[in-house]
Amino acid sequence: MDEEMNNIKTRIIRIDPISPEENKIKEVSEVIKKGGLVAFPTETVYGLGANCYDEDAILRIFRVKGRPPDNPLIVHISNLDMLREVSEEIPELAYRIANVAWPGPITVVMKKSKRVPYAVTGSLDTVAVRMPAHPVALKLIDKSEVPIAAPSANLSGKPSPTNAMHVITDLFNKIDTIIDSGETFFGVESTIIDVTRDVPILLRPGPFTVEELQEKIGIKVEIPKVARGISEAEKALAPGMKYRHYAPKAKMVLVTGNCIEEIVTKAITISRRERVKSIVLSTDETLEYYVQEKVAAISLGTRKNLYSIAKNLYSKLRECDEKEVELIICESFEERGIGLAIMNRLRKASGGKIV
Ligand code: TXA
Ligand code: MG
Repeated sequence: MDEEMNNIKTRIIRIDPISPEENKIKEVSEVIKKGGLVAFPTETVYGLGANCYDEDAILRIFRVKGRPPDNPLIVHISNLDMLREVSEEIPELAYRIANVAWPGPITVVMKKSKRVPYAVTGSLDTVAVRMPAHPVALKLIDKSEVPIAAPSANLSGKPSPTNAMHVITDLFNKIDTIIDSGETFFGVESTIIDVTRDVPILLRPGPFTVEELQEKIGIKVEIPKVARGISEAEKALAPGMKYRHYAPKAKMVLVTGNCIEEIVTKAITISRRERVKSIVLSTDETLEYYVQEKVAAISLGTRKNLYSIAKNLYSKLRECDEKEVELIICESFEERGIGLAIMNRLRKASGGKIV
């Protein structure tokens, strides 16, 4: 598909997320086979996919997203034969992760095979691979008969898309097909773990938590500062980490504290002090305090289940942009379980503005 970027007509196709219609999957797989770009749902966020062996299609992904060429893509597979195609040296640890966690929201970095173009890996000799748990993603890869390389289906720097509307906002008439299968399940991107070293290292926290890695697979990972979102990657471990990310248009400040009361009090003070249109991203447990104080606030979900916060996070950031909010004041969370991934994204979205 060699359409120029400015006269592409995007086709939007609804596919059932639980029982994907065979004929529709087949039709979309033809787009992949012909070198087209397809936005598809995964259990984490929507991906922007292309045949991972088609270098032209891969380069087009970078162009439409405005993505720096040294920020590599994740290769999505639907079976372990595909894993053996894209990696020549699969460590035993990678198989252990695959056995327990795949299909699922964890990406494993290992040595790439010759078949994988350097365009996919941002010139690295390693490749990031995952088997997604979403029925539509799995069926699409299967029918396409090739691994699908895909970054998140947003414009570079923006929050990742968790529903088809987000993809449409960013990429309509820039790509060939957008699959609409409703909301994604987790709402934040996959965990990334590098198994090419003696000690596995966490490159990005995600829905498959470090606690689960320890308890279910017996892996104790190293958590570098970049994985918390505290510092920039010096030697780009996961090259994507050095770029500003997940960022709404509005400025954002992340409010920390020793207890909820302290966080709420600080957030209210900031909202009163800053004379711009601001909104507090609160929680079900704290929303009423802001309402009482006549401070604009919306809830991200409940602190009793941080997965609810993860699931809503990116839509709420996008909502703030739609409302043309100038300052987002966001509560912080405990870095346990999925909380580690939430705080990583919030630190990055706030560009380090933490009080
Ligand atoms: O959940 C997800 O992972 C979603 C869905 C679509 O699968 N994908 C996603 O892709 O979040 P993306 O491109 O937005 O993030 C991929 C991250 C980047 O930070 C990139 O630097 C890192 O993976 N990465 C890819 N290949 C790598 C490699 N060989 N070594 C280290 N990091 C790598
Ligand atoms: Mg991304």
